[in-house]
Amino acid sequence: MEKKIALLPGDGIGLEVMNGAVEILKAIEEHYYHRFHFQYGLIGGAAIDETNSPLPEQTLNMCKEADAVLLGSVGGPKWDQNPSHLRPERGLLALRKELDLYANLRPVETVESLLDSSPLKREFVEGVDFMIVRELTGGLYFGKPSERKVYGGEETVVDTLFYKRDEMVRIIEQAFELAQGRQKKVTSVDKANVLESSRMWREVAEEVAARYQDVELQHMLVDHAAMALIHNPKQFDVIVTENMFGDILSDEASMLTGSLGMLPSASLSSTGLHLYEPVHGSAPDIAGEDKANPVAMILSAAMMLRHSFGMNEEAEAVENAVKHVLDSGKRTADLAKKGEAPLSTTALVEEVKAALADDHAIFN
Ligand code: NAI
Ligand code: MG
Repeated sequence: MEKKIALLPGDGIGLEVMNGAVEILKAIEEHYYHRFHFQYGLIGGAAIDETNSPLPEQTLNMCKEADAVLLGSVGGPKWDQNPSHLRPERGLLALRKELDLYANLRPVETVESLLDSSPLKREFVEGVDFMIVRELTGGLYFGKPSERKVYGGEETVVDTLFYKRDEMVRIIEQAFELAQGRQKKVTSVDKANVLESSRMWREVAEEVAARYQDVELQHMLVDHAAMALIHNPKQFDVIVTENMFGDILSDEASMLTGSLGMLPSASLSSTGLHLYEPVHGSAPDIAGEDKANPVAMILSAAMMLRHSFGMNEEAEAVENAVKHVLDSGKRTADLAKKGEAPLSTTALVEEVKAALADDHAIFN
């Protein structure tokens, strides 16, 4: 197959982990006879420095012409004092909105050989394998009005949690579609005992569930879900929730696996042009030192192969190669055990490439 991939490394370790993912994609090209056309674009702080905009028109157009978008990470202390329209995060928020990336998928899966890196006891996290589906373009983060005002002589502030029914339908459908290929269980998270938006969310979930008879639907209040993620994370298969709840729960869930450097994500759009990025940020504390864990970025590229290109075998090959390397005790500094010498970013990427080549040699 021939595919056009837009690469947006962004800032900080984004560049380093992106280089790693590209290396792996080149290996896939070679082993499976595909042709990937890579095009680089600026976003975030790097784009602000060059063009005075966190999402230049040129980058947006390049993304729109691509078959998929891979993003590293944006942000850093250099731009923290900038006015809000010149903040790196603006670039990412604008891109999500422009591409209508409404469904954020975050798989949370513990790796046997890394269980000792989890802050939780082995018995709680062993065998954890679920997917969080977070609504990404609605809710409190985009609702208007969002402003401060002096009202009746008092300083007041308002944020608005706004959803259209269709926006709820499409994200909940997405969760049920995914559940059909998994353990066939959807947990819909809301705050229906307090919020009207949640009561409608629950109604919509019931309506959608009626169309997926083979998938079980469970409702859970968000505060309870926060506890359950720590206490009994194994019970989950697919969790679906609105934007802010999903933001908080997915960061909480990310801790189950031990390191932010392990977690990929996909943001799916209505148009078929999807974006893939690691969950972590630009890690200014280790940027430029060839220390970052490239696994989250590499697994994001694997998600791209699967969800955008239908390359299931290739995606699995990448995931297996990563697992193989971690199981053999090779790790970057964020995961290395005491007394073990950590691998650099580039060294770990080389290991994954070697594992891919071996795997390929066995099956062909
Ligand atoms: P962060 O995820 O960049 O870093 C948090 C901690 O985890 C740091 O100690 C970092 O060294 C470590 N870490 C993160 N990724 C790692 C990796 N791949 N390998 C090894 N260690 C890793 O979050 P933080 O520090 O809150 O934010 C730093 C900057 O990144 C800020 O400017 C923030 O706005 C931005 N950010 C961007 C995101 C994005 O591009 N999607 C998401 C989160 C934060
Ligand atoms: Mg977050």
